Amino acid sequence: MRAHIITYGCQMNEYDSHLVESQLVSLGADMVDSVDAADFVLINTCAVRGKPVDKVRSLLGDLRATKARRPLVVGMMGCLAQLEEGQQIARKFEVDVLLGPGSLLDIGKALESNERFWGLQFKDELHDHIPPPPQGRLQAHLTIMRGCDHHCTYCIVPTTRGPQVSRHPDAIMRELDMLLEAGVQEVTLLGQNVNSYGIDQGKRVPGIPSFAELLRMVGASGVKRIKFTTSHPMNFTEDVVLAMRDTPAVCDFIHLPVQSGSSRVLRRMAREYTREKYLEHIATIKKHLPNAVLFTDIIVGFPGETEEDFQETLSLYDEVGYDNAYMFIYSARPGTPSYKHFEDLPRELKTERLQRLIAKQKEWSIRKNSAYVGRDLEVLLRGDAHDPAFLEGHSRGNHPVVVPKAGGIDRPGIYTVRVEHATPHMLYGKLLDAEGRVLEPQPVAAPEAAALSSPLPML
Ligand code: SAH
Ligand code: SF4
Ligand code: F3S
Repeated sequence: MRAHIITYGCQMNEYDSHLVESQLVSLGADMVDSVDAADFVLINTCAVRGKPVDKVRSLLGDLRATKARRPLVVGMMGCLAQLEEGQQIARKFEVDVLLGPGSLLDIGKALESNERFWGLQFKDELHDHIPPPPQGRLQAHLTIMRGCDHHCTYCIVPTTRGPQVSRHPDAIMRELDMLLEAGVQEVTLLGQNVNSYGIDQGKRVPGIPSFAELLRMVGASGVKRIKFTTSHPMNFTEDVVLAMRDTPAVCDFIHLPVQSGSSRVLRRMAREYTREKYLEHIATIKKHLPNAVLFTDIIVGFPGETEEDFQETLSLYDEVGYDNAYMFIYSARPGTPSYKHFEDLPRELKTERLQRLIAKQKEWSIRKNSAYVGRDLEVLLRGDAHDPAFLEGHSRGNHPVVVPKAGGIDRPGIYTVRVEHATPHMLYGKLLDAEGRVLEPQPVAAPEAAALSSPLPML
């Protein structure tokens, strides 16, 4: 069998795609990188907003047309598969295999079955399962929990991924050991709400440490860099910040989604914190980690959001001074409380607010990024940039970084980079040698041609 997986959605879906891919390989499949080359195409779906659902619909339309021409098995996994909405789409487009986020290990059974196979249970076996490490990669994701116990009124995730289940630390540490053996140097711990690790459905789970303790355990493993996502402000506690401060491998990077700067909107979202409480958390972070890089998620145009509410989001942005933000227009998702109870705001109003927020984000990102010019950063370069004369990667603060290859450094690794130029999205710099001297890239034969193909903006 030649299999191809197409992944939408968040890092959890990327992790799950890797997990299913390794199952497929162990069943003897060859992984191929296009639909044309495949006889099994599996789409890992996202349902968090309307757009990713539309994309799946159009892709499934194309696949149904392909299926009419040649033998092809079509599968759908992930968040949308778990929803009634997704199952209707699957029926319409003649999907053969459907696996919800809790039934991924049924992939073998699904392919053996001669009939349509739909797996929609949340099975415990997934939590102890350890997928083989990704090959030749310096970065890896590591799921520490699945599901979500919150009920933010706009969000479909608790329905798609079920209640929160924390993974046992033994499974996490075994998976980490395997990642380290395979050469991984940066690990990102994944959960919808990592700060409530070890507290499932409001109860502390025996034998499972707190997230702060887990960070210290992972830090003691020898991994060079640790990141984690996502933190929920409601469960955010100072002990996590202290564990970050005391554990050198943990990067000073925090993704703390605020969603809105207005306490009134936050209440309607059922986020369970106020603007003031959120700002207290930010103050705690800045007190212990003065160099912390702060990212957030913001939804604009939540039902009932007034201009005053939106102004509060803009002013909160200024108060925190985020390095970057993921910004979304509210998308009414069938099955969520806000879909049922609130009226959607006009599209133009939401778009206009998003544009104003993006302007704010750019202003801050360029200001924050420019402060790194002239400074040296530890960068994990994961491989060639678009132009193979350059390498690309990420700093400890998750800034994308591009450098020219120089001094014989042309392969992935962790290096020191002197930042020379910043844009709102990117830092550009040069590699340093062990003595801290700048490594100039080798002169190229045709300078005009090189300048044309360089991803560097004209300085
Ligand atoms: N568990 C994480 C978020 C997971 S979803 C947390 O609570 O922080 C990722 C982001 O998608 C959310 O932070 C939110 O900003 C956005 N999002 C979720 N549902 C949405 C919706 N219905 N419309 C627009 N954005 C949404
Ligand atoms: Fe969705 Fe809220 Fe859970 Fe995040 S915490 S996944 S936004 S319900
Ligand atoms: Fe992720 Fe989308 Fe599911 S954001 S958790 S893949 S709904």
